[in-house]
This record gives sequence, structure tokens and C-alpha cells, in this order.
Amino acid sequence: MRPWARGCVDPVSDFKTALAETADRVTVALDALLPRADGPEKTLNSAMRYAALGPGKRLRPFLTIECGRLVQADERSLLRAACAVECIHAYSLIHDDLPSMDNDDLRRGRPTVHIAYDEATAILAGDALQTQAFEILCDEETCASPAAAVNLARRLAEVAGARGMVGGQMLDMAIEEAGEGEVDIGLITRCQRMKTGALIAFSAEAGAIIVDADKDVRTAFEGFAHDLGLCFQIVDDLLDAVGDENLTGKRLQKDADQGKTTFVTILGIDGARDHAQRLADQAKEHLEIFGSQATRLKDCVDYVLERQS
Ligand code: IPE
Ligand code: IPE
Ligand code: MG
Ligand code: MG
Ligand code: MG
Repeated sequence: MRPWARGCVDPVSDFKTALAETADRVTVALDALLPRADGPEKTLNSAMRYAALGPGKRLRPFLTIECGRLVQADERSLLRAACAVECIHAYSLIHDDLPSMDNDDLRRGRPTVHIAYDEATAILAGDALQTQAFEILCDEETCASPAAAVNLARRLAEVAGARGMVGGQMLDMAIEEAGEGEVDIGLITRCQRMKTGALIAFSAEAGAIIVDADKDVRTAFEGFAHDLGLCFQIVDDLLDAVGDENLTGKRLQKDADQGKTTFVTILGIDGARDHAQRLADQAKEHLEIFGSQATRLKDCVDYVLERQS
């Protein structure tokens, strides 16, 4: 048996319980925030709910809530900001799965949105989830201070747009088109940091933005998310190569089938794992300023590294 540092509880399984509890709270809150699936446009609303309320890990909302607690942000504000983050994430997944992008038919163990509905509805549901996120953030129930709401919305727009997730998705397609040898590790790093790291960064920073935290706290969260975001996507690429479809709930070997250069193709399985491990170690170092209060976030880093889904 592995000698766990804190008693005999496996920190990763303990973390999974905490993550599942947060996931449930976020799903309940999202359920209340999303439009009901009725009225003449009910197909759109139903597709939004299908995508956003589906069985995802809710890792980004977890980061928002846990990092926000470290700066004593209001719990209700954090829950709502967490819901906004998940709306952007759900939108990104719907569009990522479209035939013109990754052309995937399975997500979270269920048909993707364009399969369960149709392609036009999937595009619109993604669009509407994106704007729903800003509606939630800018509501006075999320931020008492208008300045905080503006700062949150501006930062979310930055990480989700051309300088962040959408720009990264464009680079991802360019990498897919590029021939072997034309893609170096610098370009892949840039792509991964933009397409996945940027939203993870917002997730970690949101609470600090709400309370207008000191620069050193902001810097710690930025550093933490910078390393965790890249680590997260490298593990996603590893799972695509050597994961179990029953656990990930998505089709695997997609990157190889599409001839995509990733950390796995450049560094190999072991090299990519080592790189992810180094990033995880660095991510934890950024949390040192919070002392023992950051234990749960450090467990989150271990979970990201060891996850199978
Ligand atoms: C999948 O994200 C998309 C990537 C950025 C790699 P998650 O692995 O967090 O997906 P869910 O939300 O748990 O389904
Ligand atoms: C997607 O990356 C990142 C997004 C911005 C949605 P992937 O294409 O690798 O994500 P999966 O593997 O389909 O979840
Ligand atoms: Mg993709
Ligand atoms: Mg994909
Ligand atoms: Mg993937």
C-alpha cells in the first residue's frame, strides 16, 4: 500500500469526493441559471442544457471556488463565476466536436450535441452558452461592485477569444494541417496554453479579480494556472493515445488519426508524462505562499496528473 503522507486516506480519492460535491453544486446552480427547455425556441434551450448539465468533471468550476476561497471571496459570487466558466467550457466542447472541427460523435459518454440535435442547433447552443456566461458574470448577484464585474468580463473575453481559447483552436487546426517536422514544441506549447490553459487561468483568477486581490496573490494564481493548464492538456493528449474510452467517455486515438503533432508525438509517452509531472510540480510550488490552506488545490494538481477521465 502506498504510504500516504496524511494518514491512510488516498489524497486523490479524497479529492475526487470533494470534486464530485462541487460538481453537484455547480450543476444545480447551472440548472437554475439556464433557460428552461420550453417555448418556441425550446430546442435551443434543450441543447444548451444537454451540453452544460452533462456529466463533466467540473474541474474549472472547482478551481474557481477553491482559489476564490483562498482570497475569501463571497461563496455565492464564486458559485456564479464557476457557472459562467462552465458555460464557456461547454460551448467550447460543442464547437470542438463539430464535423468541421474534430468531428466527434461521443462526449461525456453520450452523443455529441450535433448528433443528439443537429449541426445548426449545436452552433447556436454554443453561441448562446457563450453569451450566457457574460450575462451571469455581469449580473449584480455575481459582483456587488460594477468595477469587479467589468474586470471579470474583460478577462473572460480575453481568455475565451482570439488571444485565448478560440485563437488556440485555430492554431490546433493549423498544426493538424502542417506536415511532419513543421511543428516544433514551441508552437504546440503556445497552442495548448491558448486553447486550454487560458480558460483554466481565468478559472483560477476569478476570485482574486472579484476581491481585487494583491499583486503577489494574482501572480501566484497566474503561475499556478500557467503550469496546470499545460499539464492538463498534455494529460488529455496522453489519454487520447493510451486511455480507456469507457473512462474518458470520448473517442480515442483521434489525434493520431488526424495526424496531429502533440507533446506525445514529439516526446513519446514517457517523455510527455515526465513533462506533465514537471509542470505539476511547478504548479504546486506557486501555491507555497498559501501554506497549508492550499492542500486541496495541490491534491487537485495530483488528480489532473493521474486522472483517467
Ligand atoms: C476536455 O475538458 C477538453 C479539453 C480542454 C481537453 P475536460 O476534460 O475538462 O472535459 P469535461 O468537462 O470533464 O467533460
Ligand atoms: C479541445 O481540445 C480544447 C477546447 C478548447 C475545447 P481537444 O480537442 O483535445 O479536446 P477533446 O479531447 O476533444 O476533449
Ligand atoms: Mg480539438
Ligand atoms: Mg476534440
Ligand atoms: Mg483531446
